[in-house]
Amino acid sequence: MKITLAVVASADGRITGPKGEQPRLWASREDQEQFQKLIKENGVVIVGRNTYLAHRKQLKLTPNIRRIVMTTQPGKLKKDEVKGRLEFTSLSPLKLIRALEKGGYRRALLAGGPKLSAAFLKLKLVNEIHITIEPKLFGAGFPILDGNLSQCRLKLSSSKQLNAGGTQLLRYKVSY
Ligand SMILES: NC(=O)c1ccc[n+]([C@@H]2O[C@H](COP(=O)([O-])OP(=O)(O)OC[C@H]3O[C@@H](n4cnc5c(N)ncnc54)[C@H](OP(=O)(O)O)[C@@H]3O)[C@@H](O)[C@H]2O)c1
Repeated sequence: MKITLAVVASADGRITGPKGEQPRLWASREDQEQFQKLIKENGVVIVGRNTYLAHRKQLKLTPNIRRIVMTTQPGKLKKDEVKGRLEFTSLSPLKLIRALEKGGYRRALLAGGPKLSAAFLKLKLVNEIHITIEPKLFGAGFPILDGNLSQCRLKLSSSKQLNAGGTQLLRYKVSY
């Protein structure tokens, strides 16, 4: 199964603003369009509980997109569940991927947060990383990844400027 990890970050590698500002408040329109395109291409989106809670109010569920929220306490969020569109699981990353493969899925988009992304990389489950760099400096905020990932090697496959302001989209192949 092909797992693509996608994040938008400031030039100093922060995925939230210094006071926890969410990407929808500072990421460029071009990045947000790129992210929506990735969601459609992958059909499955995996996030951690905190990322889900941070975006819950703005989330628009659509028939062809399956959103999976990873949490050790799925029962607490069960009331939000919408079959086939939004679900909560306490499966480990490996068991979740195996279950999706069994369900015939061939690809998924991993959209963090930093702890969960690091957990997937540590398990060598991520094939590609797409990092959008916005021309901003935050000096504080969540890092892109939270965990020791020294065994991961990145190979740049493309870099593209998304707008005149200088937003860069970097795509990397990941090897271990
Ligand atoms: N700029 C961007 O591209 C971007 C992308 C994603 C997220 N973010 C931001 O990052 C922040 C959230 O970061 P975060 O690290 O706190 O959140 P997170 O990864 O979204 O959530 C962490 C939670 O995920 C659950 N989880 C389940 N399996 C896990 C595993 N194997 N490893 C780690 N966690 C697992 C746990 O929930 P339980 O405690 O319920 O067990 C854990 O507390 C939010 O502000 C969000 O908006 C930004």
